[in-house]
Amino acid sequence: MAKRNTWEDHYTRRARSEKWPARSVYKLEEIDKKYKLIRQGHRVLDLGCFPGSWSQYCLKKVGPQGDVAGVDLEKPAPLSAPNFRFIQGDILELDPEWLADEIGPRDLVISDMAPQTTGIKIADASRSLELGNRALAFALILLKKEGHLLCKVFQGEDQETFTKEVGRCFDQMRLIRPSAVRKKSKEIYLLGLRLRV
Ligand SMILES: C[S@@+](CC[C@H](N)C(=O)[O-])C[C@H]1O[C@@H](n2cnc3c(N)ncnc32)[C@H](O)[C@@H]1O
Repeated sequence: MAKRNTWEDHYTRRARSEKWPARSVYKLEEIDKKYKLIRQGHRVLDLGCFPGSWSQYCLKKVGPQGDVAGVDLEKPAPLSAPNFRFIQGDILELDPEWLADEIGPRDLVISDMAPQTTGIKIADASRSLELGNRALAFALILLKKEGHLLCKVFQGEDQETFTKEVGRCFDQMRLIRPSAVRKKSKEIYLLGLRLRV
């Protein structure tokens, strides 16, 4: 009998049958359904957008009046939407002021960025936190008043400092572990609601 691929789960199969490029779409969907983050006409910045499921989900939700800009090291298969713009680059090197000039203010910044993992937990958590801090820096420059930030980080020693910083910048802060996060994963999502100006 063929050995069952334990990496493939209900969400992987569902994503394939519903034609999403990644199962991670169900994490965003769960958070969005609960907090009603993404609305018609919204302008979204999706950091770490490859292979594109979060951007596709957002495009459906924002409709033709809204738009989505995605940044990643890797280029996703082109999304057939006129209101999607892809910027290829390393978020650690991109200038947030330049991006703000290019794409304008945003209602929502979402980041599902993850570093290449090494298996060394402390190192992986620290690199993930570096990406999280960068996502926060972009959010502080690009978000409109009362805009929201959703950001993934790997849980680790220094995560609390980052959590406090997000809490300081937004009216409310939530720590969320959606059901599609794999049991062994260290991923956690920080949601900052309504940017304080
Ligand atoms: C888990 S995937 C994102 C999946 C995406 N949310 C989706 O649903 O299709 C994480 C992404 O973060 C990107 N990433 C990691 N480090 C980055 C960096 N320094 N700059 C830009 N993107 C980065 C990776 O290239 C990868 O595509």
